[in-house]
Amino acid sequence: MDYKVKDISLAEKGKLQIEWAEKQMPVLMKIREEFEKKKPFEGLTICAALHVTKETAVLMKTLKAGGARVALAAANPLSTQDEVAAALAEEGIHVFAWAGESKDEYYWCINKVLDFEPDITLDDGGDLVSTIHSKRQELLEKVKWGQEETTTGVIRLRAMEKKGTLKYPVVAVNDTPVKRLFDNYYGTAQSTLDGIMRATNIMIAGKTFVVCGYGHCGSGLANKARGMGANVIVVEVDPIKALRAVMDGFRVMPMREAAKVGDVFVTVTGDKDVIRKEHFELMKDGAILANAGHFNVEISIPDLESISKSKRTIRKNVEEYTLKDGRKLYLLAQGRIVNLVAAEGHPSSVMDQSFSIHALCCEHFLKIHDKLEPKVYNVPEEIDRRVAELKLQSMGVEIEKLTEEQKAYLESWELGTE
Ligand SMILES: NC(=O)c1ccc[n+]([C@@H]2O[C@H](COP(=O)([O-])OP(=O)(O)OC[C@H]3O[C@@H](n4cnc5c(N)ncnc54)[C@H](O)[C@@H]3O)[C@@H](O)[C@H]2O)c1
Repeated sequence: MDYKVKDISLAEKGKLQIEWAEKQMPVLMKIREEFEKKKPFEGLTICAALHVTKETAVLMKTLKAGGARVALAAANPLSTQDEVAAALAEEGIHVFAWAGESKDEYYWCINKVLDFEPDITLDDGGDLVSTIHSKRQELLEKVKWGQEETTTGVIRLRAMEKKGTLKYPVVAVNDTPVKRLFDNYYGTAQSTLDGIMRATNIMIAGKTFVVCGYGHCGSGLANKARGMGANVIVVEVDPIKALRAVMDGFRVMPMREAAKVGDVFVTVTGDKDVIRKEHFELMKDGAILANAGHFNVEISIPDLESISKSKRTIRKNVEEYTLKDGRKLYLLAQGRIVNLVAAEGHPSSVMDQSFSIHALCCEHFLKIHDKLEPKVYNVPEEIDRRVAELKLQSMGVEIEKLTEEQKAYLESWELGTE
């Protein structure tokens, strides 16, 4: 068996975690039952770089049940749940991941996974696609298509498409409503607050909480933080999103103003240097900094290091930076994705939707991949609707149905003011 995990003896513990997640992922489990019968991926290799969590494990087991050979690396050096990685290795998945990888180890794992020569790539952040395109071009011919889980990955893929450097088709799973409106909005909000609370155990109520970015993730986070009693300030660069934040009742201001009053700062923009030297210089003693965006570039750590005279780990996932003037700033999870490093990532039930879309896209695009061009494709609407319907069914929620007359009316133009 070809794998590398931190400690294979953690497998039993990991299996229980995966079982716990499966119980809360009824849609994906139903798809697994279908795959077990149909075996759509017989003879295919699926290589993934996703956060190695219990929810990802449920997806990997589902693809394997469908007949695929599956290899998995992490999508972040710190986000792997070691007991889950061990359990997956025992299940026959080729896992190369452990929590606390160095940058070199991270890319070593990505390359080990790619040695399995993928027919399909599943990415969260685009590192498989970019490694294949830059360093493993011999694999390009075999890859049929890829699927991308997150906003930052889709941004990178669209940039490649625009420059004409994208060499195989990729499906933007992130961009579909059943992913963005739930996983990004509810999932990131809850798990980011969970990560901040587990790392610090601070009281959220009464804190001035600065959210940078009022997109799909940030708007959810701002609203949930307000629900817990925080006094929320939004920092945005897009006038429409900023206006929405104002109308939603938040104070909106530039970072140079927010920096002076915030107790907790969270970046979730997909951009770099959102909080930098000029902002650290203005912050209050004791301010807490966290990032929930994909890469660890949103809070400028080089800038923070450059103005600090010392640094120590004061508790797990909390680095205390003492600035030259004596103020202390606290960086959580080394500026990496706080909800996956300091907590467990999104709750299973919301990943049920995102990963069901991945699974159904694998089945769907297998039928049509040879007609695709090297472009970024959207998830077909019928897959989105099917996942939403199955999720509602699993919750015991019945919805209203259009009558035949209503259907005809909604598709017509003849009837106007009566
Ligand atoms: N933590 C997680 O589990 C998780 C989950 C989903 C997405 N993500 C990541 O979170 C990031 C945001 O995703 P999203 O779906 O909300 O994207 P989005 O495009 O919907 O929102 C990003 C927002 O940030 C704003 N922004 C950009 N630069 C800014 C700056 N310098 N200052 C203030 N605002 C700025 C944009 O105008 C936009 O409104 C991405 O990196 C994405 O990959 C993380």
